[in-house]
Amino acid sequence: METTEQPKLKRDDIIELRITDQAEKDQCFGRLDNGIGVMVGGMLAVGDLVSARIKKVRQRYIEAVAVEILEPSPDRTTPLCSYFGVCGGCKLMHIRYEAQLQYKQKKVTDALEHIGDFVAPPVSPALASADPFHYRNKIEFSFSNLRYLLPEELSMEKLLRPKNFALGFHTPGNFEKVIDIDYCYLAKESMNRVLTLTREFVLANSLEPYSAKAHTGFLRNLVVRFSENREEVMVNLVTSWYDEELMQRYRMFLESGMPEQKMTVVNNVTKKLNTVATGEEEFTLSGDGYITERLGGLDFRISANSFFQTNSSQAEVLYNSILEVAGLKKDDTVYDLYCGTGTITLYLAKYCRQVLGLEVVESSIKDARNNMALNGISNAAFFQVDLKDFHAMLDTLENYEAPGVIITDPPRAGMHAKALATMIRLRPRRIVYVSCNPASLARDGKEICEHGYALLSVQPVDMFPHTSHIESVACFERIGPC
Ligand SMILES: C[S@@+](CC[C@H](N)C(=O)[O-])C[C@H]1O[C@@H](n2cnc3c(N)ncnc32)[C@H](O)[C@@H]1O
Repeated sequence: METTEQPKLKRDDIIELRITDQAEKDQCFGRLDNGIGVMVGGMLAVGDLVSARIKKVRQRYIEAVAVEILEPSPDRTTPLCSYFGVCGGCKLMHIRYEAQLQYKQKKVTDALEHIGDFVAPPVSPALASADPFHYRNKIEFSFSNLRYLLPEELSMEKLLRPKNFALGFHTPGNFEKVIDIDYCYLAKESMNRVLTLTREFVLANSLEPYSAKAHTGFLRNLVVRFSENREEVMVNLVTSWYDEELMQRYRMFLESGMPEQKMTVVNNVTKKLNTVATGEEEFTLSGDGYITERLGGLDFRISANSFFQTNSSQAEVLYNSILEVAGLKKDDTVYDLYCGTGTITLYLAKYCRQVLGLEVVESSIKDARNNMALNGISNAAFFQVDLKDFHAMLDTLENYEAPGVIITDPPRAGMHAKALATMIRLRPRRIVYVSCNPASLARDGKEICEHGYALLSVQPVDMFPHTSHIESVACFERIGPC
């Protein structure tokens, strides 16, 4: 029962409650016996009975942090990774995979109900990733001169590793300190091997990691990509300057450590002060400077700074889900909004008369056109446009047939209001909205339905096991006049 009565509880009091829901920002939710809601921090699972210390008593709810798990949830499992709880990467690894999928389905349903005002939205069970481990085809490691000390190291008299070097992941909310990672369960084995070899090389050569504070140092990032289909590895070392002799030695070191591995090694060089893992200049040290991945019978060339879906096999599941609900007809013209490097666009090309991809990033449009040529596709076209100016594009698009179906795959924030309005004004038979953020899907979905569409189906697809992220494919059908 909901009550707004102020509880007579105060900061630092210990409370006991059962966790009933996952909440935003890695928190969990439960209620006290008097009905007051409590947001609890800590690596918890739905079903846990916990004691928690109150941090803040707010008007309508309490904020607390778990101090002890009194009765563990049946959803719990032992996390494989020794960095669990410290590294921000896999915050759900303590929860059985089947239960993670149920949480994610509920997250999508809750957003549609609470933000979009949908009643009993048709959300299917989330599609599981074939392998919930080692699924990432790209991992971005960071170097730092400030190593994050693990809890067990705080009481050690002598540290076993230097404090001024780390290669791994940032701890959540800390842009300076990095956890020195030996192995990542989301990376492919060959990517972990590159990590080990790189650490060996840079330590043996006393190379200086970049300091995010002083803006000095050579080593910035190690980005490793892998193509599942061809089993190719791309190593991209991001540094502050170029040193030809050193980089050639690094390349040879990698090649001798992984003699069987097909590999391309590149060096991105950046002078920028921010910590984005791309460079203004790129040097190819070996191989072609790109790898090739095959999805849905098509080849995609991926260079160091190209966008590509990070879970290759699940990307195919995602694209099939789109195809399944799009209901394409052979003579359809299809728009693919926010098309990135055109993977969805090209995937759909053979099922319709023509498909137009729209995207703001110039290099992505270039990649999309290259991929189109690589696959001998002739019924696609790509346009570089900021979709907030979508309406201004309509004159150009009049050279093509009106869209029977529109696919839209916007960034986390959802569609720009003007892009959304233009899309609705085009009145396609179906709109397939692909979303990595259930809240934006709910907000934009509500708007779509207020303009003569019905929500037919929502298919969550789990692209990122062990994280709270969930992708959804929502299908809207026109019910009002054309
Ligand atoms: C979620 S990604 C979609 C990727 C693509 N559909 C795929 O499956 O590979 C979102 C894309 O929207 C693009 N984008 C972001 N803001 C945009 C805007 N205002 N106008 C056009 N494209 C934009 C990004 O560059 C990115 O490629």
